[in-house]
Amino acid sequence: MTSHADLIRALDERDTADFSALFDFLRIPSVSARSEYTGDMARAADWLAHAMRGIGLEAAVLPTGGHPAVLGEWRKAPPGAPTLLIYGHYDVQPPEPLELWTSPAFEPTIRDGKLFARGSVDDKGQLWAHVMALSAHMRARGTLPLNVVILAEGEEEVGSDHLAPFIATHRERLACDAVVISDSAMFAEGMPSILSSLRGLAYFEVTVRGPSTDLHSGMYGGAVVNPAMALARALATLHDKRGRIAMKGFYDRVRPFPTAVLKGMRKLPHSDTRFRKALGVRALGGEAGKTTLEKLWTRPTCEINGMLSGYTGEGAKTVLPGEAMAKVSFRLVPDQRPDVVERQFKAHLMRQLPASSGVTVSVKALHGGAPWRADLDGPIFDAARAALRNAFGRDPVIVGEGGSIPVVSDFERLLKAPVLLAGFGLPGENAHAPDEWIGVDNLRRGARAMAFLYDEFAARYSP
Ligand code: BES
Ligand code: ZN
Repeated sequence: MTSHADLIRALDERDTADFSALFDFLRIPSVSARSEYTGDMARAADWLAHAMRGIGLEAAVLPTGGHPAVLGEWRKAPPGAPTLLIYGHYDVQPPEPLELWTSPAFEPTIRDGKLFARGSVDDKGQLWAHVMALSAHMRARGTLPLNVVILAEGEEEVGSDHLAPFIATHRERLACDAVVISDSAMFAEGMPSILSSLRGLAYFEVTVRGPSTDLHSGMYGGAVVNPAMALARALATLHDKRGRIAMKGFYDRVRPFPTAVLKGMRKLPHSDTRFRKALGVRALGGEAGKTTLEKLWTRPTCEINGMLSGYTGEGAKTVLPGEAMAKVSFRLVPDQRPDVVERQFKAHLMRQLPASSGVTVSVKALHGGAPWRADLDGPIFDAARAALRNAFGRDPVIVGEGGSIPVVSDFERLLKAPVLLAGFGLPGENAHAPDEWIGVDNLRRGARAMAFLYDEFAARYSP
């Protein structure tokens, strides 16, 4: 096995400088969702490209149709060495509500071993771990054991609309033997984790229209169908009594998870009581007969994300609303497809609310992303197991994930390369929320693990 002592030394030597640079990166409010930050988005992209050049990569800021992408490249590895594509995102979620931050979102601060800042864990800090790791190789050895392409996008937090076309356009430049992404969490402190699955997403806006204007609920109520009631009743038919989704054909494409994966899941330390208490709920819900981790990682769901109708201000108003709206999303598992779920959802609502029902229903698809599952075989996964074991002092656990990163399946489809998801966040690190943080020691270990990964992958790869 390759000795990694020189890499550890190189990382330790530059620890202060690496963190101070990360602080500079985190100070740039790269909020992709809002136009007032467009200048900061460009500034963050330029900053990152400059940092990549500083460690010896070639770097360019490339247009995408939305916020730019940053592409770093180093292609001087010996013949026969693999090419690794590192993906991350430099955009962050809006910081609001500002008053709930203990220290300001864009003034990074370390307290109790936690680095607090918007983007610390999602995903500037984790992206930076890779830059630290590459820089350690360059300083320790003057070279890298493999060819590297780093792709940092600026639109992950707003749905990555321009990324799949960007990957397709730059397919040759992005060609690689494996993709690695650090944009997720470990199962628990001290438990390095490799993701084996992500759920997909199908997100809709449903509008139910009744009378052409709001009506007096006394003068008309009882004789005119209420769109809010009609919508509520229709949405209530989406689940059956056992918590399953009652839409025709919804489970047809669900491919069971391999028994070995389910068995592994049952061995992970999880307590429903602790989970429940941490969330402040008295009971858990969902499908009967499934464990919590099974429900979160292996089963599709349907949620109402928001509803709006009628009077919602202070006090009472006797109104029969003319219209009702709901945001409804489904999390999907392999091999479900967002376009198929869209057809099923529309058909279900039309059956519930036909023309004769007195209201009309319309459905708009907002967001879609395919689910993903890895088989975890091959040199990149073996390399990850070795690298994580070395950096964290224990074997990684294999975990699933209930959230979605739509671009993962795009990478597999367009680049035909396996994707390794290994992140260094922790549950409770407040991604998308006030007081977002990442453990400083986990970030250091993450950088070590990635530095080791490049060696381990190069050593295991054969063309
Ligand atoms: N990084 C998250 C996804 C994630 C969360 C992966 C936790 C692993 C662990 C990502 O930024 C995100 O929030 N994705 C969205 C989907 C997107 C289409 C808006 C999600 O899952 O809701
Ligand atoms: Zn996110």
